[in-house]
Amino acid sequence: MQDRALLSPRAQALQPSLTLAIAAKAKQLRADGRDICSLSAGEPDFETPAFIRAAAAQALEEGQTRYGPAAGEPALREAIAAKLSQENQVATKAAEVLVTNGGKQALFNLFQVILAPGDEVLLPSPYWLSYPEIAQLAGASVKLLPSDADQGFRLRPEQLEAAITPASRLLVLNSPSNPTGMVLGRPELEALAAVLRRHPQVLVVCDEIYEFLLAPGHSHHSFAAVAPDLADRIFTVNGFAKGWAMTGWRIGWLAGNREVIAAATALQSQSTSNVCTFAQYGALAAITGSRDCVQQMAAEFNGRRALLSERLMAIRGLKLLAPEGAFYAFPDVGEYGLDSMTLCNRLLDEVGLAVVPGVAFGDDRCIRLSCAVSPATINDGLDRLERFLVGL
Ligand SMILES: Cc1ncc(COP(=O)(O)O)c(C=O)c1O
Repeated sequence: MQDRALLSPRAQALQPSLTLAIAAKAKQLRADGRDICSLSAGEPDFETPAFIRAAAAQALEEGQTRYGPAAGEPALREAIAAKLSQENQVATKAAEVLVTNGGKQALFNLFQVILAPGDEVLLPSPYWLSYPEIAQLAGASVKLLPSDADQGFRLRPEQLEAAITPASRLLVLNSPSNPTGMVLGRPELEALAAVLRRHPQVLVVCDEIYEFLLAPGHSHHSFAAVAPDLADRIFTVNGFAKGWAMTGWRIGWLAGNREVIAAATALQSQSTSNVCTFAQYGALAAITGSRDCVQQMAAEFNGRRALLSERLMAIRGLKLLAPEGAFYAFPDVGEYGLDSMTLCNRLLDEVGLAVVPGVAFGDDRCIRLSCAVSPATINDGLDRLERFLVGL
């Protein structure tokens, strides 16, 4: 047998998803007959709107079943560019858009083509759990910029300034945020842009996948619209999964500097080729259609998010940034003295509640609860959480 390890160092360093481990355990307990309530969902519980499904079905019937251009169907690239230009005020041409297999592949492709060993990715923490893994797969190291519930999980400009070194290559912004629900306001983005103007080597990626899911009083601003002078080094990642309830369709996009888009397209052409052709026609109907369906789902999430916040705030000893967007809450339960993994395992074993440990997102004092479930399920889950914490 060979004397080198079977797995590459890259694969050895890869962390399996903790969220999947919790979900698998919850599923097993349910199969064993246990009464399990899950607030761990990372996807809308709504069906993809009918007109989108119909458009994909029609494309399938009409023979949109062959390989397509690696960068995406031209009509969809045009439509995404038009959406960015009109809805987000980020002037974009079709050549600056790549259609990807979800927002995740947009991030993966971008990181692969702009990062090299020795580069540092600046990652505000808590963070969505795939960012560090995707950065490390591209050979970069990750520098965390921590924040907590007391500071509203916000990245402060002076914190960013202090963290930047000559090796800093990419800043990751995610607003609305998974897991915290924090939404960056325009003045905050302007203050971050002022720092970045002093450091021209730092590129920025803005993950806007939850852009439509905003609590009342909050609005979404694309960073490239707030700082148009920096637009050539700002990349926007977005997709259809969360806003249009299309998680399984696997369609997202990367937009920005066309040289980078061309490199990311070349990478895609050598790895996954094009995104499923007929699915892209469903996405085309979605993005060119009325936003009514998106707004209806967002309104439903607003009610559920408010219920989740209200119930959490009523629990003593728990600190919470009332989520401003997305469909999660990320309370700090550190007062109860358990690390997040222990707490989540005990919640599952003792009261049948599945939630995700904060350690997966870089904060071991917190847990993530989702409101992408019915209000009855939210109430059931919060009853269980309260019962467990009171009994500690
Ligand atoms: C912050 C964030 N970015 C990106 C993604 C990836 O989305 P997609 O399903 O489009 O790959 C997710 C999915 O959970 C997410 O939460």
